[in-house]
Amino acid sequence: MTEQSVLEVSPVIPVVVVRDADHAVPLARALASGGIRVIEVTLRSEAALPAIERIAAEVPDMMVGAGTLTSHGQVKDAVAAGARFLVSPGSTPTLLDAMADTGLPYLPGVSTVSEVLGLLERGVTEMKFFPAEAAGGRAYLRAIAGPLPQVRFCPTGGIDPRNAPEYLALPNVGCVGGSWLTPADAVVAGDWAGITRLAADAALGSSS
Ligand code: 3PG
Repeated sequence: MTEQSVLEVSPVIPVVVVRDADHAVPLARALASGGIRVIEVTLRSEAALPAIERIAAEVPDMMVGAGTLTSHGQVKDAVAAGARFLVSPGSTPTLLDAMADTGLPYLPGVSTVSEVLGLLERGVTEMKFFPAEAAGGRAYLRAIAGPLPQVRFCPTGGIDPRNAPEYLALPNVGCVGGSWLTPADAVVAGDWAGITRLAADAALGSSS
């Protein structure tokens, strides 16, 4: 895959916390079996970098990315592990420079119009809207589509199967992110069939 736009890979990006690197490959395969070919592994656990390495090596059809990037060092670590796209919850000049320097697609986080304008000044038009529901949700995105029609978002934070289709119907939303496809208890229990079902529902439901 050579997508330069993360927003075009899948209508839903599963946002995953991996606590045990041994779960990474079966988890990625379970999502792929359900029709979801992208995964954002958040750097919130010790297992995250080894998980990215394993998915990159063993599930080549899966576009694996690194999320919750909050520092320059994490960006370097994520690239070294094999991440193919990068996601941050917010945007600082240091973080933006680090992500841009990798040459990889990246989704910097924003929640205000001024942050959006700061990214536009850098030529960035695709971003994560986080925390989506808490920061104004669909009403907020609808309101800024008028003055800022050139921007497309991946809203994340509080997205679920009920509201995902409503977000995806907005003209300035390219995809949504969420953790609902990979519940922690299902991952710990190794319920890969259950995760495949959630992925299949998300892949189908998002197009309805
Ligand atoms: C993220 O890291 O983007 C969010 O924590 C995911 O939010 P959710 O758990 O509400 O889907």
